[in-house]
Amino acid sequence: MDQYFKSYEELDIHQLMLDDKIRVLAYKTAIFNSKDKFQGKTVMDVGAGTGILSIFSAQAGAKKVYAVEASILAKTIEHVLIENNVQNKIEVIHSKVEDIHPDSLEKVDIIISEWMGFYLVHEGMLDSLLYARDNFLRENGLLFPSIAKLYASPCQLRIMYEFWDNVHGVSMRFIGKQYREIKSMKPEILYLNQDDLLTEGKLLAWLDLKCISVEDLNLLGGEDYVSVCDKNGKYQGICIWFTVEFPDGSEMSTGPCVEPTHWKQTIIVLPTDIKVIKHEPIAYRLSLKRDTLCPRHYNIEVNLLDAEEVEHDVPCNCHMTKCIVTRTYVTDYANNKTVAPAKSYKIENNNF
Ligand SMILES: C[S@@+](CC[C@H](N)C(=O)[O-])C[C@H]1O[C@@H](n2cnc3c(N)ncnc32)[C@H](O)[C@@H]1O
Ligand SMILES: [Zn+2]
Repeated sequence: MDQYFKSYEELDIHQLMLDDKIRVLAYKTAIFNSKDKFQGKTVMDVGAGTGILSIFSAQAGAKKVYAVEASILAKTIEHVLIENNVQNKIEVIHSKVEDIHPDSLEKVDIIISEWMGFYLVHEGMLDSLLYARDNFLRENGLLFPSIAKLYASPCQLRIMYEFWDNVHGVSMRFIGKQYREIKSMKPEILYLNQDDLLTEGKLLAWLDLKCISVEDLNLLGGEDYVSVCDKNGKYQGICIWFTVEFPDGSEMSTGPCVEPTHWKQTIIVLPTDIKVIKHEPIAYRLSLKRDTLCPRHYNIEVNLLDAEEVEHDVPCNCHMTKCIVTRTYVTDYANNKTVAPAKSYKIENNNF
């Protein structure tokens, strides 16, 4: 058995996920809000784990639920079903979803799955959801969740910096710098204090799960981004998080401004910090590239860019002259002043 599925044999992992109230209640609320959509319908739960989402689906009125689970936990689900008296509605399939022959099952009306990993795509389980969608979901069937979005924002990482400045009265800045150099080699998974976000979240990727392909997941982000500081502070890292949306319109966020989830946030540490002020633009290129040897993993690359040399949003509320001029122009136009409508607001570098 694949080491990936072996890791899901650990009940500690399932307790951690089941104890994440934001996660479980997001699914429960979305499913129970959609009882009209579940009533009398067939559902597939891709990666059923302990069976919780299958049971919610049955309780919401589904006629039949296929609880597909590749790990040995599939055997345990049967007991949970009996405990909850839903064994007649839920059929456990102990298999990787990719190993189920498409002709062996009827098409289902709804697919539910909790496939998200750190920074959304770590673990690569989204590939399995897309396989299930393409092979088992009827036309116009529903996906729970149906949309996923990935965000990033420059941030402060006080604990990584200030800690070493004064360790019980002893300065250890030299060690601090070495520590951050090591930490900057791979993403850190931790909770960021919401006050430490320096800018609004920038949308890196918007995934419509109904139509994206596995190839679309090879590269996420990959563009040049400009984020504008909403406070004075120190640019010490980049924080990445995601949200998912359900067909009833409800949303679950794993960002630092809402109640914490077990996904925490993914942080790229900068080894040395940069002082920034309110309205200052921070430019960076950020890409998540699927690892060719280990497709369940991604390589996250960050390049710091010169904000003078990158195109800004229009309008942009940064303090650079070109953006102030564009902003004034756009505001004047919105207020019906005399300026003629521009064909394009494309900003050329240093033109103002
Ligand atoms: C993140 S856990 C979610 C478990 C459960 N649905 C819940 O919400 O608590 C993902 C589960 O999917 C299973 N899984 C991952 N990929 C799978 C695949 N291709 N086929 C079947 N099961 C899979 C894992 O073994 C794991 O139990
Ligand atoms: Zn700007």
